[in-house]
Amino acid sequence: MISVDSMVDCVKSHRLYAHPMYDHWAETTPPVETTAALFHQVQKFCASTRPGLAFPPALREMGWNQQADLIQEIVESESGHGAELATMAGHIVNRIAGEPYFSDVFDRNTVEPGLKEHSDRILGALPGYDPVKGLTAQAAAAISVFERRTESERTTTIRNLGTSLALEIISNQSIIPGEKRALVDSGHYGVTMEEPEMHYLAEHWGECGAEQLHERNVIEAVGSVIDRQTAPELEKGMTDFLESLSALWDVIDAALLKSGVDRVHG
Ligand SMILES: [Fe+2]
Ligand SMILES: [Fe+2]
Repeated sequence: MISVDSMVDCVKSHRLYAHPMYDHWAETTPPVETTAALFHQVQKFCASTRPGLAFPPALREMGWNQQADLIQEIVESESGHGAELATMAGHIVNRIAGEPYFSDVFDRNTVEPGLKEHSDRILGALPGYDPVKGLTAQAAAAISVFERRTESERTTTIRNLGTSLALEIISNQSIIPGEKRALVDSGHYGVTMEEPEMHYLAEHWGECGAEQLHERNVIEAVGSVIDRQTAPELEKGMTDFLESLSALWDVIDAALLKSGVDRVHG
């Protein structure tokens, strides 16, 4: 039976949904360098998911105006989030350093290059690492799924809708709660959701959070167009996202959190 509910179930049963990366992060307090590298990879990926590019106009061209509006609303609600994520990353790094490692965490132009520097140093030797963009091969692959939004061909547009569905469910139910567990609930950094530096999490988390709206919108959009013809492309877009982000979480988990090593040697 083809339905949006079955697609949602697919996302929730994928290994990405319950990926251990965030719990491993919550179990330890990685040093400044590792945390900076980790935030760099996450932040580069997140940045690629925000712009709508040709995607909303392509939906309109297909006559899917209501779906375009729902996606456009998500795109607009993302404005300012890149800067806020950089602030949160800089703030956490400062808390680990115990001194102002980044003198102004509200200035993304100093925080982001600082994060990249550590990523280049720690992850730069991984096969396929792009030193110019500072991307692991896995981050580049996950980002390339969102670069399809530059195309407006029908098949790609339907795939992009499937990708959005999976992205918003994972963001709302896995990534944001995972970040909250690792950064706030762990107590490792002495930070609260109320601090202005942690506004990124406060904005995204919970019943009134941005991700809740995104998830509702995209479920409505997919639910209104899913049928025997669109389902295969919707599912392809969903799977491409789930698989590529799982691979990025795997490399972060293995290279930065080293949970596997700790577990084997107790
Ligand atoms: Fe956001
Ligand atoms: Fe979102």
